[in-house]
Amino acid sequence: MDYDIKDISLAEKGRLRIEWAGNQMNVLELIRKRFRKEKPLAGIKISACLHVTTETANLVTTLKDGGASVSLCASNPLSTQDDIAASLVKDYKIPVFARCGEDTKTYYQHIEGALSDRPMITLDDGADLVSTIHRTRQDLLKDIIAGTEETTTGVIRLRSMAEKGILRYPIIAVNDANTKHLFDNYYGTGQSTIDGIIRATNILLAGKNFVVCGYGWCGKGVAKRACSMGAQVIVTEIDPLKALQAKMDGFLVLPIQEAAKIGDIFVTLTGNVSVIRGEHFETMKDGAIVANSGHFNVELDISSLKELSRNKRRIRDSVDEYTLKNGKRIYLLGEGRLVNLTCAEGHPPQVMDMSFSNQALSVEYIVKNGRNLEKTVYDVPEEIDRQVAYLKLASMGIKIDDLTKEQKRYLSSWEFGT
Ligand code: ADE
Repeated sequence: MDYDIKDISLAEKGRLRIEWAGNQMNVLELIRKRFRKEKPLAGIKISACLHVTTETANLVTTLKDGGASVSLCASNPLSTQDDIAASLVKDYKIPVFARCGEDTKTYYQHIEGALSDRPMITLDDGADLVSTIHRTRQDLLKDIIAGTEETTTGVIRLRSMAEKGILRYPIIAVNDANTKHLFDNYYGTGQSTIDGIIRATNILLAGKNFVVCGYGWCGKGVAKRACSMGAQVIVTEIDPLKALQAKMDGFLVLPIQEAAKIGDIFVTLTGNVSVIRGEHFETMKDGAIVANSGHFNVELDISSLKELSRNKRRIRDSVDEYTLKNGKRIYLLGEGRLVNLTCAEGHPPQVMDMSFSNQALSVEYIVKNGRNLEKTVYDVPEEIDRQVAYLKLASMGIKIDDLTKEQKRYLSSWEFGT
């Protein structure tokens, strides 16, 4: 079996951490048990480009238990947990191509590695796998039934490909399932971003001016958590609706140029480029902490930060101190890559349980129905989304009510009024 990981001797630690996360992923575990019995993915070859974490390990082993052969590469050069990569190779015989800290060239070589078995289904987080296939590996297209996409940024890229008529196989947008983005993006990013900032810096959030750039589901989650820890949250937005929501949620809304002067901590979660630029770094307070929690490392204009600086040193793990020519110090976390995965472990397993249950059930759906789909981006079927919600509630011991006959009749009627 071909693979490329950092250190196979880390496998034992990884195996135990995978087990720990698996114990918190109850819906996925139910799916795993059924997959073991029914083998709905028998004979299916899958290439996955995902963050190599304990939660991802539970997803790919579930797919393997369903009969698939799976190979895995990283969806970010800095998010790989090397012990997890080691255990997947040693204990689960899954070919993994991922090393934490790999350079861009190796990152793309690893994507090639994960494609070497000629996939029938792709799992992507950010669309680098799909775009590589479209750019340089079109020879693989004839074997591919369909794929899934995990994240907002990836879905945006893939919808753009579909609109331009260049998407060559169907994609299911797992991100857009309600049981994904309303939980993973909101509670998951909310907690794991704060977790990353705290693990990297050990700072107290209470009393700090905490600037959240972007008030989508991820930004909303981070703002809420930072606020509940005693920070004064300031939101920057370009969308008038989201800006209004932020204001009415109780936050100060400012243009980034104003926020830059007063912020102590900055996090970008916009999915867009150059959100914090040179002119903003220059006006920041001495000691400002800057991080990105969006998918790509493009939200902070790091080349401008470098140009403005006279010195750079690593002051703590994952914390680079930039001393500007104006004498002020700016602290950049995780090299501007996803702070929740570079400085912490990503979202906790309880929330990834729902995201990855959608993934596993979407893969099963593709095996059954994928050949009838068009070359475009689809939502996760509603039955799957609702099933994940019901199973998650059941796993938490929560019961809910059913509509009575009278209520059903009322909801489908028009006759009843004042
Ligand atoms: N994205 C965010 N958190 C994650 C995790 N724990 N595993 C995989 N992908 C993630």
